[in-house]
Amino acid sequence: MTVIKEIEAFSELPVGVFDSGVGGLTVAKEIMRQIPNEKIIYFGDTARVPYGSKSKETITKYSRQIVHFLQEQPVKAIVVACNTASAYALDEIEKELDIPIIGVIKPGAKVAVEATINGKVGVIGTEGTVGSRIYSTYINKINPRITVLGKACPLFVPLVEEGLWQDPVTDEIAIRYLSELIDSGIDTLILGCTHYPLIRSTVGKIMGEKVTLVNPAYETAKELKELLEMEGLLNKKTPELGDNRYQFYVSDMADKFKTFANSILEYGILSAKTIHIENY
Ligand code: DGL
Repeated sequence: MTVIKEIEAFSELPVGVFDSGVGGLTVAKEIMRQIPNEKIIYFGDTARVPYGSKSKETITKYSRQIVHFLQEQPVKAIVVACNTASAYALDEIEKELDIPIIGVIKPGAKVAVEATINGKVGVIGTEGTVGSRIYSTYINKINPRITVLGKACPLFVPLVEEGLWQDPVTDEIAIRYLSELIDSGIDTLILGCTHYPLIRSTVGKIMGEKVTLVNPAYETAKELKELLEMEGLLNKKTPELGDNRYQFYVSDMADKFKTFANSILEYGILSAKTIHIENY
């Protein structure tokens, strides 16, 4: 009886979700939609963003600190809602943890394999994600015959953060970045950075309707649900109002984060707390 109660109490713990900043909110939003019973503790590393142009060692150190912070809350599982951190740090950190942890890359790769008909898949992301060739590693593990073409699009993150989601400047830059992928004849394009779903319509307009866009956020939330189910960790109890259902933490600029979050999430967030992540 006590053991059952303990398991129930554990399954009622939140899921930890982290990103270098606001981009991971696109993943959190999908989790809120697909598994509404789950509580979430979100951490955005707004003091140290961007991750996309930093080294593997630095991103692994940052990710480890965030995981320590989340474990202290505590959480029952962790989602690395950042492509760069998933590419660089996930494998190493997974070995050190006794709770489940998933990233966004494996789920995105799986959908792309299912979606492509001509066997040519494009990946856009940060310099770190594209340079690591992690998407092609996962895709080719499932199907070695698929060709994967990567293109780093470093200006997309600041454009999204400036709110230029539908703007001629973003169109112009997207045309420059994407033209070689159009010429290569890909039929599937992975939005391999958590910010990019916010400019999905711009990317879609330029790639044309024959190219399927893959947003790993949807599949990541689905994979999280399956994982929690398998581990007996799905929260069966609907959290009540005032239950701190969704909590947000950042390493800097909490008000700016809050405003951005409220433009993405359907759930209105009242506050984001700043913590000193270097202490973890
Ligand atoms: N969240 C990061 C990613 O998905 C993009 C922003 C950054 O460079 O930190 O790779």
